Order: sequence, then structure tokens, then C-alpha cells
Amino acid sequence: MKKTELQKVRILLVDDTPTNLAVLSESIQDQGWTTLFATDGETAIEQAEYAKPDLILLDVMMPGIDGFETCHRLKSNKLTAGIPIIFMTALSESTDKVKGLQLGAVDYITKPFKQEEVVTRVGMQLRLHRMTQQLEYNNELLNQKVAEQAQTQAQLQQLTQDLEARVQMRTAELSQALENLKQTQMHLVQSEKMSSLGQMMAGIAHEINNPVNFIYGNLKPAEDYFKDLIGLVEHYQTCYPSPDKTLQEHIETLDLDFLTEDAFKLLESLKIGADRIREIVLSLRNFSRLDESEVKAMNLQEGIDSTLLILQSKLRSNVNGQQIEVIRAYGDIPKVECYPSQLNQVFMNILANAIDALYEAIQTSKMSPAQAPKITVTTAINLSGEAVIEIVDNGPGIPEAIRTKLFDPFFTTKPVGKGTGLGLSISHEIVVEKHNGSIFCLPADNGGTRFVIKIPCKQPVEEAPIFTHDPFYKKDTITATHS
Ligand SMILES: Nc1ncnc2c1ncn2[C@@H]1O[C@H](COP(=O)(O)OP(=O)(O)OP(=O)(O)O)[C@@H](O)[C@H]1O
Ligand SMILES: [Mg+2]
Repeated sequence: MKKTELQKVRILLVDDTPTNLAVLSESIQDQGWTTLFATDGETAIEQAEYAKPDLILLDVMMPGIDGFETCHRLKSNKLTAGIPIIFMTALSESTDKVKGLQLGAVDYITKPFKQEEVVTRVGMQLRLHRMTQQLEYNNELLNQKVAEQAQTQAQLQQLTQDLEARVQMRTAELSQALENLKQTQMHLVQSEKMSSLGQMMAGIAHEINNPVNFIYGNLKPAEDYFKDLIGLVEHYQTCYPSPDKTLQEHIETLDLDFLTEDAFKLLESLKIGADRIREIVLSLRNFSRLDESEVKAMNLQEGIDSTLLILQSKLRSNVNGQQIEVIRAYGDIPKVECYPSQLNQVFMNILANAIDALYEAIQTSKMSPAQAPKITVTTAINLSGEAVIEIVDNGPGIPEAIRTKLFDPFFTTKPVGKGTGLGLSISHEIVVEKHNGSIFCLPADNGGTRFVIKIPCKQPVEEAPIFTHDPFYKKDTITATHS
């Protein structure tokens, strides 16, 4: 405890000679200090424990335990260890003085006393002791402050960490929400686009199908009737080889021989045309396959052919006198279990991109007129039992930096209104998530672009249906029931 100047200073005098005690007491009390007395070591220890003096003046030579032993015990006792001790000794040997200092005493006074020396030494030790106490006190305060500051800093650090964690969590939540929103938007746009395209195709196919069937169905009877009529005319000519002049002139004007020969050719080309229309109708129905929402075994080549047929007008649009040639290199592959209309969408997206890239390159002279634009479609089966479809174009290719973003939703390099940037991201979802397959894009050997699609021939049983027209439909989502 810190003592102020006003508090009384108490000094314990330990000496077995009463005269010494009296002399010392007098000089000490003259300074306004209070004195306590003990005439042997044991009593001195008891007093020191009880009264806690500010300083002890301790005689060395005493009956019972001597001053050194008393000092040793006082310094070993927690209660009294901090009290400064000054030895009083008649001995002048320096070894005893050293021993006293080694035991923890702060000073020594040699008998006979000189009053001034006693007072000066005691006063100095008291000041020193007080300053030490003050220092200890300040040190304690400082340590407390440091500890408080460390605690505040730790709290601050904790708060910062919490805040950072919350910001991170919130950011993750927001990114997730944004991702969900993008997906939802993507499905909305795509399902809208595909359902209207599919419905339109199915509608057209249906409308054309009926009249084309009339034509196709009546061609054979028409040919038979015509044959009968020609037979009749020939019969007439046999029975009446010399008709009258006007009939002869009519036959010559008609050029009956040419008409007979050409009419059959005409009927033949009508048949070819009707066949073609029937093929187109079939392809349209094949492509849209709206009725099929379950996994079906599909002939992939048929799907690709239907898609190419639908893209026919796009393929034939003559840009700068150039037309795209499509090379089909189909391998012998089994039917593949899949959602046919969805795989057709994938073919459609990739082929349409290739056509766009080729025509754009021709228009912007990125391709020389000598370089014939072409798309090669190959199909094969690999050792893992996957159908592998490759669509390669000899267009300008895709720079590495862009290739990494191709499958990101809404990524497009096309001008506003020309591309939504959804084609490839939807294709990726269809191939990877709905068919457990893979799709990637590589640079082609000819500098163009190569898309590789791999679809396992067999799908796991009971897959969830895909692309319901509900934009909020999500695979693996358990819908909560509202009570
Ligand atoms: N064969 C290709 N050659 C060159 N670039 C291509 C090719 N295929 C795709 N790309 C690039 O990839 C981008 C993304 O294609 P994606 O089909 O996803 O979107 P899009 O064609 O721009 O728009 P849409 O939603 O109408 O399909 C295209 O904008 C184009 O830059
Ligand atoms: Mg596209």
C-alpha cells in the first residue's frame, strides 16, 4: 500500500541494549517518525508481522536468534519480505556487512551511532522504499491498462472477425440469390423460347400434314386415271387411224406424244415433291417431340438430321456468294436413352452458333473467299459406352479468353437483339445435369471451333423430369406444404 507524507512513518528498533534503543528512539522521534521496539529477534518478527513498520533497524548481536537469522526469516515471510532492513553492527569486518546485504538488508550502520548518519540513512531508505512502492504501484496500473487494452483489442478483433464473417455470409447469400435469379431467368427465357418454337413447329407440321396426305394419297390414282385415258386415246387411234382433219389438227397442236411422255415425268416430280414435304413434316415433328417428356431411346443421327433440315434455310442463305457445306460422318451407334427434344435443342444451339460464326466471318472478310465454309458432324461410340457427337466448323475459332466463359449464362459476343447468350449455358445444363454427360469446346485443327458432346447410352432409372414449364421448378427441391 502506498503511504502519503501525512501518514505516520513507523520504525521498528530491534536491539537488546535498552540504552541503544533510547538513543535511537530520540533521534528518530525528532524527525516526527513513530518508533516501535523489540529486544530480540523473535519479538521483532512478531511485531513486524503485526504492525507492518516502514523500516526496521536491526541489531546483529542479540541473544536468541541473531540479527542475520532474524533478517533471513523476515525476508522469507511474505508479510514482511518487503520491509527495508538496516543492520546495526558494532563489528567493523566487511564480511559481516556483506553477509547482511546478501541476506536482503538495504544498508548498515556501524556502532557507536552518529545521530545524523542514522537519520540520513534511515531517511534515504524511507524515500527509496516509498519511491519503489510508487514505482510498483505505477507499474501495476500500467499492467492493468495494458491488460485492459489487450482485452479491448481482442474484443475489437473479435468484432471485426464477426463482421467479416457476416459480410462474407451475406455476400455468399447474395451471390447465391443472384445465381438463382439468373437460373430462373434463363429457364424462363429458354422455356418460353423453346415451347413457342416447338409449338409453332408442331402446329405447322400438323397443318401441312393433312393437305400433303391428300396430295400424296391421290397421286397414284391420278397416275392410274391418266394411264387409262392415254390407253383410251391409243385405242381410239388404233380403231380410227384416219381421224377427220380438225381432230388431226388438235392432236398436232397438243403434241400428244410429248404431252404423254412429259405428263408422267410431271407426275413423278409431284411425287418427289410430296415425299419431300412429308419428310420435312416428319422432321418438324421429330424435332419438337413435344409429347415426349420421358427418357426415350433415340436415334441421334435422326435428331441431327431433323435439326439440320430445320436450319436448311439458314444454311442456304447465300452470303457473298458462299454457302455452307455440311458433312455428315455418322458412325454406327446404338440408340441413346435421352430426352429427344432436349438433345435436339443442344444440336440446334451448337449448329446455329457455327452457322452464325461462319457467315459473320465471311461478311467481315475474316475468311477468304477461297476457304469454303463447312460444318462437319461426326458421331461415334467410345470405350466407356458413351455416344460422342462432334460438331466442327472451319470458322474463325474462339479465343482462349472467351472460351472459358462460353457456358456462362448470358455470355454473348453478339450484338443486342441478336443473341441472348443462353444457347450454350442451356446446352451445358441439358447435357451435364439432365443426361449425365459432358460438353466441351476445343480449338479445331483447321483453326475453327470444335464442340464435343458425350452422352451415356443408358440413363440411370427414374430420373426426374426436366424443364417443366414452371420456371421455379428445381431438381431435388422439396416443396414445403402450407397448412
Ligand atoms: N462455333 C462458334 N464459333 C465462334 N464463336 C462461337 C461459336 N459458338 C459459340 N460462339 C461464341 O459463344 C457465344 C455464346 O454462345 P451462346 O450460344 O451461348 O449465345 P449466343 O449465340 O450469343 O446467343 P443465343 O442465346 O441466341 O444462342 C457466342 O456469342 C459466340 O461468341
Ligand atoms: Mg447461340
